[in-house]
Amino acid sequence: MARTTNRTATYEAPPNIALVKYWGVRDRALALPYNSSLSVTLERMRSRTSVRFDSDLDDDAVVLNGEEASGGPRDGVVRFLDRVRTMAQRSDWAEVRSANNFPTASGLASSASGFAALAGAASAAAGLRLSDRALSQLARYGSGSASRSIYGGFVEWRAGRRPDGRDCYARPLYPPRHWPALVDLVVLVEGAPVKEVRSADAMQQSVATSPAFARRQREVPARLAGMRRAIGDRDADRLFPLVMEECDSFREVCETTRPTLDYLTATSRAVLGEVRALNREAGRPLAAYTHDAGAHVHVFTLDRHLPRVRRRIAGLPGIERTLVLRPGPGSRRIP
Ligand code: DP6
Repeated sequence: MARTTNRTATYEAPPNIALVKYWGVRDRALALPYNSSLSVTLERMRSRTSVRFDSDLDDDAVVLNGEEASGGPRDGVVRFLDRVRTMAQRSDWAEVRSANNFPTASGLASSASGFAALAGAASAAAGLRLSDRALSQLARYGSGSASRSIYGGFVEWRAGRRPDGRDCYARPLYPPRHWPALVDLVVLVEGAPVKEVRSADAMQQSVATSPAFARRQREVPARLAGMRRAIGDRDADRLFPLVMEECDSFREVCETTRPTLDYLTATSRAVLGEVRALNREAGRPLAAYTHDAGAHVHVFTLDRHLPRVRRRIAGLPGIERTLVLRPGPGSRRIP
């Protein structure tokens, strides 16, 4: 059923950094993950996306950061629009304009913020009125991590058990201001390579070839539950070791994948080493490192340790710059 009304909607959405990683798809058609994951939504960085359905258009038009998109990035958006058209029972084409207020090639998760913003803007422009939960379920088809960017603060994406995916969705655990002293020192390393393989494909190589994958699946639920409690209690002494253990487990799976997945540079590894050294010297966890499928490192610490941690890390050779981010709000419609 074609509609003749033109509708525009604009959404803004943030990136997030996973403390428990999503890595492995159990059902590709429904975009269901093997394990639940947990993330912190980040402040300040935003993707802003406008979608306009228009029966006068004769194809979808996708403009990303001011340039007409083509190839993989365009195909991903068009497939996502097709899903929204099916849900809304409409057949008209759309114009999508999306821009990030941070460098896309910087390796800071732009697919999470991008698809979370697209889920909101495309569904609203198509006339659907989706709950936040339904938006998180829609966003995962663009990028799994996007399901978590709907919410602010500390967010869990529940893998669920049902084959139909109805119990797979993100939910907010704690609001952005829950733990004001917690900061994410984002460490941008020089010469971070551009991702060659999409995470969605790379993780399936891990499922198929990494001998560490099955063990990781058994360990993740306890780690996630421990983190949820440690965040609830604002207890860095319990949280930070779990964050690093989880990151090490993710990296082990990547490194034992065939062909191997190596996302870090020598500088990224030096940052991990420096955090370990700092914690050893202090005799307790002052900071925790984590990284996604990229070379930049996120170092979580508390306000009172930040000057010391930042001085040590920013002084390492090969660091482009560091920025301090706190937990921030989720995605929202822009009037
Ligand atoms: C390591 O499927 O969300 O960041 O589709 O390639 O953008 P792309 O990524 P996605 O995979 C995210 C993998 C991760 C861990 C995480 O964010 O949970």
